[in-house]
Amino acid sequence: MPAGDDSSFDIRKSEKTEDANRIITNYLPKEEGLQKKVIEAMNYSVSVGGKRLRPLLMREAYSFFGGRNEMVIGPFMAAIEMIHTYSLVHDDLPALDNDTERRGHKTTHAVYGAGMATIAGDGLLNLAYETVLNAFPEMTELPEYDGSISSRYIAAMQILAEKAGIYGMVGGQCADIEAENRTDVTAEDIIFIHENKTGAMIESALMIGAILAGAGAAEVHKMEQIGSNLGLAFQIQDDILDIEGDSGKLGKTVGSDARNGKTTYVTIHGLDAAREEVERLSEEAMDLLDELGQQTQSDDDFMSELITWLIHREY
Ligand code: IPE
Ligand code: IPE
Ligand code: MG
Ligand code: MG
Ligand code: MG
Repeated sequence: MPAGDDSSFDIRKSEKTEDANRIITNYLPKEEGLQKKVIEAMNYSVSVGGKRLRPLLMREAYSFFGGRNEMVIGPFMAAIEMIHTYSLVHDDLPALDNDTERRGHKTTHAVYGAGMATIAGDGLLNLAYETVLNAFPEMTELPEYDGSISSRYIAAMQILAEKAGIYGMVGGQCADIEAENRTDVTAEDIIFIHENKTGAMIESALMIGAILAGAGAAEVHKMEQIGSNLGLAFQIQDDILDIEGDSGKLGKTVGSDARNGKTTYVTIHGLDAAREEVERLSEEAMDLLDELGQQTQSDDDFMSELITWLIHREY
C-alpha cells in the first residue's frame, strides 16, 4: 500500500503496537510467592492498555539507524514502558493527581489500594533496570557486535536512568506538584514542567534506539532535539485533551488538571494557540528527522507518519 495511506498507517501502527506488547509481556514477572500481590499490581498496570508510544519510538529510532536485532532493543523497549507505567501509577495516586481511571480501567490504587500501588510503582522502576542488566550478558555474545557493544549498552543505560530521574521525569513532576494552585506560574515554568515530566522520557526512547544501533554523538543529539519537540507537543496535546477530550476514547478521566489547580499550556496561551504550537513543534521535529534521513538514507516513513498522527490524536 502507498505510504501516507491512512489505512496502511493504521495497520502498521497496530502491528507494531502488538509487537511491542509481545516484547513487553515477555519481561513481566510470574505472579507467585509471598510477593504475588505486588507483582499482580505491576502486571495489571502494564497490561491493561496504553499506546506503547515510547517503545514504538525507540524501535523506530533503532531501525532508522540500521538496528535489526530484537535481543538488543527488546529489553530496553520493555524497560522504558515499565518506567513510564510506574510514573502513571504514582501520578494517579490520591496524594498526586488522585485519578480513578487509566488506560480504560480502574487506576492501580483503585484496585489494589494506595500502599500496594506505591510499591508496584517502585517494583516496576526497579524491574526496568533488572531487565536491561540481566540481558547484558546475552548481548556480548551476539556475533555482529564487536567490543563496542559494552559502551553502547552503558551509554543507553545512563540515558535510561538519567532521563527518568531528578534531571528528567521526576524533576518535572516535582515542578508540576509545586506549581499546583499557584497564580504566579510562568510560561517558562510550563515549558520546564513539560520538557521534564514528559519530554525527557520521549527523548530517552529516541536516544536509546539511536545509541544501540551505533549512531554517532551528533545524531544522538539530534534525536534528543526531536524528542524534546515531540515531548512538548505531546504534553500540550495531553493538556488540550484533558479539557476537550472524550474520556471514553482517552481511557482516563478528563478535567483532572482543572480539579487539581494545574496551570497548563492551555490555561496560559488558550486552546487555539496550543493547537498551533502542537503543529509547529511537530513540523519542526519532522524537519529534523528529514535532515537525519538524508544522512542515513533511511526510506522508512513510519516515524514521520506517527508524528503526524500524534498531532491529531484523540487518545
Ligand atoms: C500519559 O502518557 C502521561 C503523559 C506523559 C502525558 P501516554 O498518553 O503515553 O499514556 P499511555 O501509555 O498511552 O497510557
Ligand atoms: C504526568 O502528566 C506525566 C507523568 C510523568 C506521569 P499528567 O498528570 O498530565 O498525565 P495524565 O494526564 O495523568 O496522563
Ligand atoms: Mg500529573
Ligand atoms: Mg495525571
Ligand atoms: Mg494530563
